Amino acid sequence: MPFVVAVDGPAGSGKSSISKEVARRLGFGFLDTGAAYRALAWHALAIGADTDDAASVISSLSSFDYRIGTDPAGYAVHVGEVDVTEAIRDPAISAVVSRVARVPEVRAHLIELFRASMATTPKPGIVVEGRDITTVVAPDAPVRILLTASEAVRIARRSAELVGPSADTAGEQLRRRDQADSKVVDFMTAAEGVTTVDSTDLDFDQTVEAVIGVIRTAQPQM
Ligand code: DC
Repeated sequence: MPFVVAVDGPAGSGKSSISKEVARRLGFGFLDTGAAYRALAWHALAIGADTDDAASVISSLSSFDYRIGTDPAGYAVHVGEVDVTEAIRDPAISAVVSRVARVPEVRAHLIELFRASMATTPKPGIVVEGRDITTVVAPDAPVRILLTASEAVRIARRSAELVGPSADTAGEQLRRRDQADSKVVDFMTAAEGVTTVDSTDLDFDQTVEAVIGVIRTAQPQM
């Protein structure tokens, strides 16, 4: 198993961009687990599954050919031959992804895929980010981090990424998604042994440095 850095946090905490940059600087692999839940939501919609019906979502798993690389440089998400890297960020996917992610069979299926990706990354380490990485996917990881930021800052960052009407509704959507997601896994409080990095008053680079600082405290040769 490579050296695993587990990162959890709420929507808009910057986990994906921060984790990817940390991985790049350390020469590690990077795994965005939220992208897999999003890819499954995309696939379920594409085949006409009913995302409100757990049985329909579960049946969509049998044709879900998910491929996600772990190289932070050429990062892309594919379902079969289709590159869905951009499509899975659509607000229409954000609106339904929590319904897909709450199905226990979906979680069990994806967790197996995550562990396989972690085990086979060609890099010496891997930064894995999501909601339940520090607690369920990799509870024994040598470095476990909860990346947080105040709700106001998370909404402002998310709105800045979007344009037009979706920017106005970003706050409401982020709140709704966090509420739905936190019923499934608790990612708002740090589990025992998990280090909290609060990025409310940090810029991107300072947050990356803070995360690398936590990793080097645990493993000085990294
Ligand atoms: O990090 P994100 O916004 O791309 O995640 C998309 C959704 O997937 C999010 O609404 C919650 C879910 N998710 C999860 O349940 N467990 C994870 N490890 C990662 C994401």
